[in-house]
Amino acid sequence: MDKVYLITGGSSGIGLAVAEKFIKNGDKVISVTRSEKKIVRAYGEKPHLEGVVDFFTGDISKQEDVDKVVDYLKENYGVLHGLVNSAGVLSTGTLESLTVEQWHQMLDINLTGPFLLTKALLPFLKRAGGASIVNISSIAGLRPGTSIGYSVSKAGLDMLTRFLAGDLGPYNIRVNSINPGLVRTNLHFDNDIIDDEKVYEEMIEAAKVRHPLKRIGEPQDIANAVDFLMSDAASWISGVIMPVDGAVTQENSFLPPKDS
Ligand SMILES: NC(=O)c1ccc[n+]([C@@H]2O[C@H](COP(=O)([O-])OP(=O)(O)OC[C@H]3O[C@@H](n4cnc5c(N)ncnc54)[C@H](OP(=O)(O)O)[C@@H]3O)[C@@H](O)[C@H]2O)c1
Repeated sequence: MDKVYLITGGSSGIGLAVAEKFIKNGDKVISVTRSEKKIVRAYGEKPHLEGVVDFFTGDISKQEDVDKVVDYLKENYGVLHGLVNSAGVLSTGTLESLTVEQWHQMLDINLTGPFLLTKALLPFLKRAGGASIVNISSIAGLRPGTSIGYSVSKAGLDMLTRFLAGDLGPYNIRVNSINPGLVRTNLHFDNDIIDDEKVYEEMIEAAKVRHPLKRIGEPQDIANAVDFLMSDAASWISGVIMPVDGAVTQENSFLPPKDS
């Protein structure tokens, strides 16, 4: 039987690249996202995925939607070989400017969502006889960055990874985090952080200089790392918090950037 994977946020950016990678590998992909509009946009960008990725509409931060995912899996597959928690939202702001609603939304979707899904899907993952969970965190989980609520949600997600690696290891379920640096996706546009292509390109150009590898990430860079962590080649890797970031977290900020 093909392997069955559930990817949250598979209609855009990193989740979409992971979905495409797994489909190319010949696996079955189910994805949970909220809006039909983004699914239609994804099909516009990647028509070969239309009708191939099994999209389920729901909000991962809502228990009732998670319960529906469980029913759907029970009826259609009965087993899950891997879960990729990629769905996430971003609001920027400081302690003074970030609203309480924005704080709750980031914690609910970026942290509680992966907790609810992992808890609900555990029986299916156990049944696979060896399964893998990859949480898409951020370098903002490793040190303060982007915004206070976002950073705290991703730091919490990394601790969820480490905790679950210990808890679920005896079931032969591995749990790892990937912590991307800046990756070219719809994240900043869809969350109303930036609405101007020119401003976005300026942000990217400024970011490139700070990356020792002199480029920002593409969704494919993250999908390749997820693919590795899902594979048997990673069968003794669990509880790892893995930056995939062009070495930006290793930048020596006490020196002027080279080649700028
Ligand atoms: N892009 C970067 O620079 C970057 C860097 C570090 C980490 N990350 C992380 O990478 C992950 C993917 O981000 P991305 O850049 O690919 O962003 P993106 O292009 O905006 O994609 C986000 C996806 O998550 C879905 N989503 C959001 N809230 C959801 C919810 N409550 N329930 C179900 N699906 C939901 C969105 O669809 P709907 O809105 O339709 O639900 C969309 O499919 C996120 O966790 C993000 O924090 C991104």
